[in-house]
Amino acid sequence: MHGDGAGYSPRKTAAALTYLHGFGNEHSSEAVPGALPEGRNSPQRAPLGLYAEQVSGTAFTQPRADNRRSWLYRVRPSAAHPALTRTDNGALASAPFTAEPDPNRMRWDPLPEPAQGTDFLAGLWTLGGNGDAATRTGMAVHLYHANAPMERVFGNADGELLIVPERGGLLVRTEFGLLAADPGEVLLVPRGVRMRVEPLDGTARGYVCENYGHPFRLPELGPIGANGLANARDFRAPVAAYEEDDDAAREGGVEVVTKYCGNLWRAVYDHSPLDVVAWHGNHVPYVYDLRRFNVIGSISYDHPDPSVFTVLTAPSDTPGLAGVDFVVFAPRWLVGEDTFRPPYFHRNVMSEYMGLIEGGYDAKTGGGFVPGGGSLHSMMSAHGPDRATYERASTVELAPSKVEDGLAFMFETRWPVVTTGRAVTAGHLQRDYDGVWRGLERHFTGG
Ligand code: FE2
Repeated sequence: MHGDGAGYSPRKTAAALTYLHGFGNEHSSEAVPGALPEGRNSPQRAPLGLYAEQVSGTAFTQPRADNRRSWLYRVRPSAAHPALTRTDNGALASAPFTAEPDPNRMRWDPLPEPAQGTDFLAGLWTLGGNGDAATRTGMAVHLYHANAPMERVFGNADGELLIVPERGGLLVRTEFGLLAADPGEVLLVPRGVRMRVEPLDGTARGYVCENYGHPFRLPELGPIGANGLANARDFRAPVAAYEEDDDAAREGGVEVVTKYCGNLWRAVYDHSPLDVVAWHGNHVPYVYDLRRFNVIGSISYDHPDPSVFTVLTAPSDTPGLAGVDFVVFAPRWLVGEDTFRPPYFHRNVMSEYMGLIEGGYDAKTGGGFVPGGGSLHSMMSAHGPDRATYERASTVELAPSKVEDGLAFMFETRWPVVTTGRAVTAGHLQRDYDGVWRGLERHFTGG
């Protein structure tokens, strides 16, 4: 499909991909030699008869350190499209979320298998979020479960998409070129960048953080120093690749769906919008392998707050207070002496949605937190190790040990996560999550 001809295999295509390296770099790439103008962005006539177009992910005037934009050199300009009309949002919802905020701790099993023929966009299911898509604040938590390639193209004006595959890989064709991610890797697709998503293995399932606010960036490292956590060089951007003589276009058009202020709109183009022959800039998609994360932890006692596991942070207007952080609990050694080593009991002003990519999670050894499922602990909701974990970790003889069979993550946001109606009526919402903290015994010996 899509120009790859007979015998097409998304796995084979993914295996052959090459990438550019480095988060935030001024990347450039051309699929045809000479397509990229030299020394200027917008020559009187762009090379090879291409149209020059800038896509701005930040306001023109934002500081250099924050500024994101790319120049695209395309067969036809993005402006060449007919009027957009509303189309069904499916199970995709956007902020503002208007349900009454619920302080209860919640946990979900994985989404049920969707109907055959469900593509990535149709398979998006919104759990909740905060802020407002139109004022570019806050975030949303979505899950996806897809079993068919997208024939249509999707672009999101409302924010960037951090895609976290959990089961099955994805091949993503973007305006900037192709990326592939298997479980354990994550994809970051910037605001407005059009894409077509295809399961690598027939079916694909995972999580999406939609960030309406400032784009994700690498966290500051402070006293950690110049290296560590997610290293910039491990983020991979695509090389330019374009669709022109596209099957769908030949057969009467390409459906392009745009999410705009919370709703889906569609138009049928007479060409593929993935027709960018060359580009340069820093508003580009990335893939990152979470197993490359350099985990920092205590080598004396206690364990640091989980902010030390931040992969990417989307700052808000208040320094140090993220619109959303993406945090990973990756394999790591635990060596703390006289320390309760799993995540401690806590109440957090920030709100935490957690998911599991593979294996287990060291705060929940009593079962129920499974790959593809998730949990939500919103503002000040008390949580921490389940009873089984507490009993074991508070009595076990401490020796160096390795947490190595799990990959969990967290979307942590400064505002409470308000759930959608479907998230609290869904059959996969666990009905007695509070029970994991039931029966924590009274050990007090002072009175
Ligand atoms: Fe927590």
